[in-house]
Amino acid sequence: MAMRLLPVVVVFVAATASCRPAMAFPATGMQLPGLPVAGLAVGFYNESCPQVEELVLAEMRAFVAKDWTIGPALLRFMFHDCLVRGCDASIMLVSQNKTGERDAFPSYGLRGYDEIEQIKAKVEAACPLTVSCADIIALAARDAVFLSNGPRYAVETGRRDGKMSFNIDANNDLPPPSSNIVDLKTYFSVKGLGWKDLVVLSGSHTIGRAQCSTFAADRLYNFSGKLEQDPSLNKTYAAGLRELCEPGVVNDTTPVAMDPSSPYTFDLGYYRDVVGNTSLFLSDQALMDDRWTRAYVERMAAAASPGEFFADYAVAMTNMGRIEVLTGDNGEIRKTCAAQAD
Ligand code: HEM
Repeated sequence: MAMRLLPVVVVFVAATASCRPAMAFPATGMQLPGLPVAGLAVGFYNESCPQVEELVLAEMRAFVAKDWTIGPALLRFMFHDCLVRGCDASIMLVSQNKTGERDAFPSYGLRGYDEIEQIKAKVEAACPLTVSCADIIALAARDAVFLSNGPRYAVETGRRDGKMSFNIDANNDLPPPSSNIVDLKTYFSVKGLGWKDLVVLSGSHTIGRAQCSTFAADRLYNFSGKLEQDPSLNKTYAAGLRELCEPGVVNDTTPVAMDPSSPYTFDLGYYRDVVGNTSLFLSDQALMDDRWTRAYVERMAAAASPGEFFADYAVAMTNMGRIEVLTGDNGEIRKTCAAQAD
């Protein structure tokens, strides 16, 4: 098994994900790049729940072995948790009045609630009232990447869980797939993320699928409200998409692979799609409209190996994992993640 340690502590493993062992990470106190956040540390649970990362990985392996599609769903889950009220598991809270984040329009199609709850139950059995749901979401996202042949980067833990969840926050803070580059940079910058985080994290769309309803109007049938196809979309690719997503189907849930050449392998395919005008969302294509994001996309699309992307991804996920976190005495550690918000 080939292993290489990069400065940002990204571990590359050459064997297939299903048989790759978990890697042990350094003790608490190891610092990841960027501005550290008080209360977050790699190995935060080394004393209180040393087996937590193994437990999460074992559960993730079992989920992915049963259903390949759940890995990408859980990666997206962390994005939706962190961009809204910070990484505090507020996405898990349930609102009786249907006014929680779960009920918001951008949460449409989001999956992984049950899996996070199942992992939490396993972790609770081993370490009662110790590990937050927010940390479980971050660890599950990392393992989703790893189990798709991506890097197994070190994850800071120590987050605590929030008690509030509002659909309006999700509506305001999550970028729609119709976003242009200015919108995207704004959505990210208000959360402390820069253009590099944007272009690197968008690379997550190298795995997983999207439902026709999230892109068909914008790209196939009503680009710019003109009842036409997006002229920037590759014609052959668009013809294939039109067969999958028929016009006029309301809430079309048909799933379409975002990186058709390798939909469950975490690789550079996404960047090749963007350069080749075969990415799915306007927000993906929009990365070509800024000189910095475009240069990154083009470099990654031409790269011979994913090393630089993997190293950048570890940094960007760390940055996202630091958004508005609750640590120390703030927030709570609760027994179940899907508690009532109201
Ligand atoms: C930059 C702005 C982004 C926009 C506009 C966006 C939008 C979307 C949309 C509309 C979907 C399809 C959902 C569905 O049909 O069920 C999707 C899927 C996905 N997104 Fe994003 N996303 C963005 C950034 C991110 C980030 C930062 C991550 C992870 C860190 C991410 C990870 C994923 C994954 C893995 C999927 C596939 C989910 C699945 O297969 O169930 N996205 N995204």
